[in-house]
Amino acid sequence: MPKNDMTLVEKANRYGTPMYVYDGDELKDHYDRIMSWLHQSAEVFFSFKANGNLSIASLLRSFGAGIEVASVGELLMAVKAGYSPQHIIFSGPGKRKEEIDTAIQHQIYCIIAESKEELTYIAESAKQQGKQVSVGIRINPESIESRAKIKMGGVPSPFGIDESKLGEVFDLFQAYEDTLLFKGIHMYLGTQVLDETSLLSSFEYTLNTAVRIKNEYGLTCQMVDLGGGFGIPYFQHETPLHAERLFQDVAEMIQAYESELDFPRFIIEMGRFLLAECGVYLTAIQYVKNSKGEPFLIADGGMHHHQAMTFRGRLLRNNYPMRLIKHSNQPVDVVKQTIVGPLCTPEDLIGRQVELPQGEPGDLLCIEKSGAYGLCYSPTLFLGHSSPLELLLFEGDDYIIRDRGHPEDLLLKQNMPFFKQRRVECETD
Ligand SMILES: Cc1ncc(COP(=O)(O)O)c(C=O)c1O
Repeated sequence: MPKNDMTLVEKANRYGTPMYVYDGDELKDHYDRIMSWLHQSAEVFFSFKANGNLSIASLLRSFGAGIEVASVGELLMAVKAGYSPQHIIFSGPGKRKEEIDTAIQHQIYCIIAESKEELTYIAESAKQQGKQVSVGIRINPESIESRAKIKMGGVPSPFGIDESKLGEVFDLFQAYEDTLLFKGIHMYLGTQVLDETSLLSSFEYTLNTAVRIKNEYGLTCQMVDLGGGFGIPYFQHETPLHAERLFQDVAEMIQAYESELDFPRFIIEMGRFLLAECGVYLTAIQYVKNSKGEPFLIADGGMHHHQAMTFRGRLLRNNYPMRLIKHSNQPVDVVKQTIVGPLCTPEDLIGRQVELPQGEPGDLLCIEKSGAYGLCYSPTLFLGHSSPLELLLFEGDDYIIRDRGHPEDLLLKQNMPFFKQRRVECETD
């Protein structure tokens, strides 16, 4: 969690609200701890989708992470952030043809193919460019129990290639042997998993699949991407993973397979677990109003910056972890209050009947665990409010890693060819 309340108040006073604050020192400690538990048995690839900020990606590269991108936009940012091709993989079920062409030009470590159709296009594009291309295949396992909050495998799915079609996939590799280089396999069954057994069994399934591919098809994986989905507890009923034990178990499991698999590169993908607890979203209380006996705190930030903290699309309507930092030292009662953002929709609900010290204008609301799936996961254009500033604290310095937006940003990239002219004509009639 970024520093203490005094630091957060000082940053809010200096840079204004709403804003995201990330703690780079904590991120470094967290990354180093994970790597030490893994005993360097696997590489951690940052899933860019969890936080689309260039500087966060660049910082993680400086710690040693690789990166998993899911669009050409992310790929170009990854290159700018300092990732060499060997540290980039590209997944996603709907890569556009131009994106595949660009990924081939960049000669990244591998493109992860998610369907036979996509694999065929990758091969054709590489052939046309006169290049060879390294490809991994994402496998949707036959049947596997997963306790992921959002399931992305083991069920009918747009993600990955059904395990039963592996033979057909390898026939394609054979047909395009001058163009397609088989790099290995990838499995990812879903996000926000808080059950160690479920994670370990999915990793074991992936490792066994790599063994099976070697034995049945005579193909050696140079890369085995175990996926991830490591969760963090947001709500009271959720228990954190026993991270140290879990990563040590993962390391042992990998070590048990590595010689049989001829020492491939093992990859673990990570977004939420890496970043969520290293960032907060800060928003100031602007107004306090009472409606029919119920107090409402109205903040200057909301769903357009941080959709995940609201109840939107969530089955469980629990309040996100948050605390109120009072602007004065006057003692106040703890009361139940409803906190909303500035948008004209009931969905912009930050917290319902949250027990917090009685709020006043000028107080700072700190939304915790907001380092992942915050800004990049939010409907920023909805209602036209400006985007928030993003601040990184690292080794004693402050870095504004994204400038605050401006109302005039809304005019950018919009074309209005003739309607304004029409209005003028009507007015002169
Ligand atoms: C293929 C893939 N890898 C990695 C991730 C990141 O997951 P998490 O943030 O749970 O680590 C996702 C998330 O949807 C994903 O689809």
